[in-house]
Amino acid sequence: MDLAHAEALDAADTLAGFRDAFELPQGLIYLDGNSLGPLPRATAPRLDALVRREWGEKLITSWNGAGWIEAPERVGGKIARLIGAKAGEVVAADSTSTNLFKVAAGALSLRPGRRTIVTERGNFHTDIYVLEGLCAVAGATLKVVEPDEVLAAIDDDTAAVVLTHVHYKTARRWDMAGVTAAAHARGALAIWDLSHTTGALAVDLHAARADLAVGCGYKYLNGGPGAPAFLFVAERHQGAIAQPLSGWMGHAAPFAFEDSYRPAGDIRRLLCGTPPILGLAALEAGVDLQLQADPKAVEAKGLALCDLFIRLTEARCAGHGLELVGPREADARGLHVSFAHPDAYAIVQALIARGVVGDFRDPDVARFGFSPLYLRFADVWDAVEILREVMAARAFDTPEFRSRAAVT
Ligand SMILES: Cc1ncc(COP(=O)(O)O)c(C=O)c1O
Repeated sequence: MDLAHAEALDAADTLAGFRDAFELPQGLIYLDGNSLGPLPRATAPRLDALVRREWGEKLITSWNGAGWIEAPERVGGKIARLIGAKAGEVVAADSTSTNLFKVAAGALSLRPGRRTIVTERGNFHTDIYVLEGLCAVAGATLKVVEPDEVLAAIDDDTAAVVLTHVHYKTARRWDMAGVTAAAHARGALAIWDLSHTTGALAVDLHAARADLAVGCGYKYLNGGPGAPAFLFVAERHQGAIAQPLSGWMGHAAPFAFEDSYRPAGDIRRLLCGTPPILGLAALEAGVDLQLQADPKAVEAKGLALCDLFIRLTEARCAGHGLELVGPREADARGLHVSFAHPDAYAIVQALIARGVVGDFRDPDVARFGFSPLYLRFADVWDAVEILREVMAARAFDTPEFRSRAAVT
């Protein structure tokens, strides 16, 4: 395991050419694409054309003329190809939190008589908060159980089990097909949060018989800060699902201005208000780029990057108290790697000051994402070398690096 080995892996990398499709600052090793993906080169020209021509010159005619009104379904249809779904089963809209509210409410509507939702303790907090809020207004019960108790918690009263496919902190990957089958065996539905999966792992919602899913656009899809999220409703549920954010874009005829809500007959009933066209255009640029890559090759390279990072860190930073969090095995994980350390926050700041960008997750986790379209194996080598220097010299041990910013 030396730099030459990493460079040989780069020379054989079939995805290497994608790096040029991104604006990456010189000298930066960006290991945070699992939080905010970098800027694709195609995005700024696309937004410039949209703003100047479609908005600036064509104004309101662009809703029809430039296809703005179809953007949620069009972009959703493209995302569908990345997650093993069909066009017509996915829309790009709102945030992941809002979409989870809609699909979880939808699950309650699909399982009348069942009043419980099950999720795991330690799930990404917005998911738990949204489910708490939904259960409060719906008169339902949220069961938050330990990960190894999830399957046993699904019973005759369970409408849905809600899990994040790849855990935001540990990168642990749920067996989507297995959990979905277990939920179905008890008459419940399975809802998957694919925020750390889409654009990273070659997930197949149809093969897993998944019912509902959500995910975000600003991580591996490189859709930009606050990019619209997406949601999936399996075709078999679309006729019956109801959701309470019954805005006009989910109506069967938004421009009929009827006095009462009548849901669209298809996936559009999961929409709510006016689509954010600028955000959708940036997201579409990221998704178009992702669609050019073979998802299986993306997954394989990402897992190999993670594996190299784990092995190099454990070998070269041994004795400095960094403990791998989450699974080591490739088939049990996603594309970020977390190490626990009591000084994790300061370590991450010291790395950022040296051009290696990761992030910190409370209380003690330094997290590094390995997005396959622009990272090289040599970057992994260099990042670990800088980490080794930081640890060996305790370069993180300064008041400056210990002072917490609002976003970690
Ligand atoms: C698993 C998961 N769900 C949801 C979100 C965020 O949701 P939202 O798009 O509503 O901010 C994140 C953000 O990191 C996440 O990791």
